[in-house]
Amino acid sequence: METAQRVYKGLEGVYVLESSLCLIDTEHGKLYYLGYDVEELAEKSSYEEVSYLLLHGRLPKRPELEEFVGKLRSEMRLTPEEMRDVQYAAKRTGPMDALAAFYLFASKDPPQTKDPMEHAIRAVAKAGSVLGNVVRVQRGEEPMEPQPELGIAGNLVYLVTSKKPEQYQTEFLDDILILHAEHGVPASTFGAVVTASTLSDIYSSIVTGLMTLKGPLHGGAAEAAYYQFVEIGDPNRVESWLERALAEKRRVMGFGHRVYKIYDPRARYVKAMAARAAELAGGRVKTLYEIAVRLEQAAIERLSARGLYPNVDFWTPIVYTAIGIPPGYFTAVFAVSRVVGWVAHVVEYWKDNRLIRPLHLYTGPESGQRYVPIEERG
Ligand SMILES: CC(C)(COP(=O)(O)OP(=O)(O)OC[C@H]1O[C@@H](n2cnc3c(N)ncnc32)[C@H](O)[C@@H]1OP(=O)(O)O)[C@@H](O)C(=O)NCCC(=O)NCCS
Repeated sequence: METAQRVYKGLEGVYVLESSLCLIDTEHGKLYYLGYDVEELAEKSSYEEVSYLLLHGRLPKRPELEEFVGKLRSEMRLTPEEMRDVQYAAKRTGPMDALAAFYLFASKDPPQTKDPMEHAIRAVAKAGSVLGNVVRVQRGEEPMEPQPELGIAGNLVYLVTSKKPEQYQTEFLDDILILHAEHGVPASTFGAVVTASTLSDIYSSIVTGLMTLKGPLHGGAAEAAYYQFVEIGDPNRVESWLERALAEKRRVMGFGHRVYKIYDPRARYVKAMAARAAELAGGRVKTLYEIAVRLEQAAIERLSARGLYPNVDFWTPIVYTAIGIPPGYFTAVFAVSRVVGWVAHVVEYWKDNRLIRPLHLYTGPESGQRYVPIEERG
């Protein structure tokens, strides 16, 4: 096969696969899952229903959704052995590694079903129950039995806060899970698909996804944005902070995106949620929101000419704080949501699998080098 001898650094501008899962309309700042506007899905749907949409390629009829939710709920429970795995990993590693360790244990001994969809559903269902208990164990608390009837979002809030969640907490988290569920082929999804292309198992793909998302160039910006707001501390300090930060060539965290050069549609949605969260929760959440609003305005004035606008990670820290999720776990919540995006891509890719095996352009020494015995090397 003839291949142009050119390396596309970072695979920028390269199409690596076909997918029907999501469309990122960068011109109009819109995001669609299977043709559905993600903002409408966040407003009207549930994370469970969106998971069905991504895994099956269409919205479910009521009995189909009920059956799907039933399967998710039975898989949200953790067996005593799984609970031990979670505790073991949570005590020894960070949140992302603990999630990965859980799926690693699952990949060692996957249940003997042949249907990848069963594994996909199981993987999606477990994520929140695992993370909720990772948070607990790492805070020195006892693990708790998941409460599947609260749904994936409500169960995670329950495990993190030890309380039956308020409706607004569940709704906020459910919306955030929907907005983060899928986004084409960022590094983590591509990594997951590369692993799947070798016909490794679905859990191993998730491990690849998690470990790739962990890197600061991919996940992690929400936490950085949170600490940036904390560093600013007071809305009146925003402008002077920004002047200094830009003079020092620091980046505004939660601003800019490789794909969106206009306002990220998810950020627009989460900004409205952050406003409601500030009103409902008051106190620290309100201060964070006021800092963010002022920073957004000042930074847009300075940076928008270069296509830099807030991305989703600019606003989520405020909503996470209102829900009660501690800052060290923002990336892991993103990961819980993205599990469905990863497995949906894997299931889709397996329908027409081809081992991913690109080429490298050789830049080393000329062939035919003479092997010099070590004692003769100068
Ligand atoms: C997301 C991000 C990595 C995308 O970067 P990219 O498309 O590869 O763009 P580059 O890193 O090449 O940056 C292009 C220019 O914009 C500037 N820039 C990019 N993001 C910036 C930010 N958040 N604040 C200030 N300047 C920024 C860069 O300094 C660079 O300027 P230069 O040309 O004078 O060197 C980048 O915008 C960033 O680091 N943002 C902050 C972290 C963040 O919010 N990440 C979440 C992503 S969802």
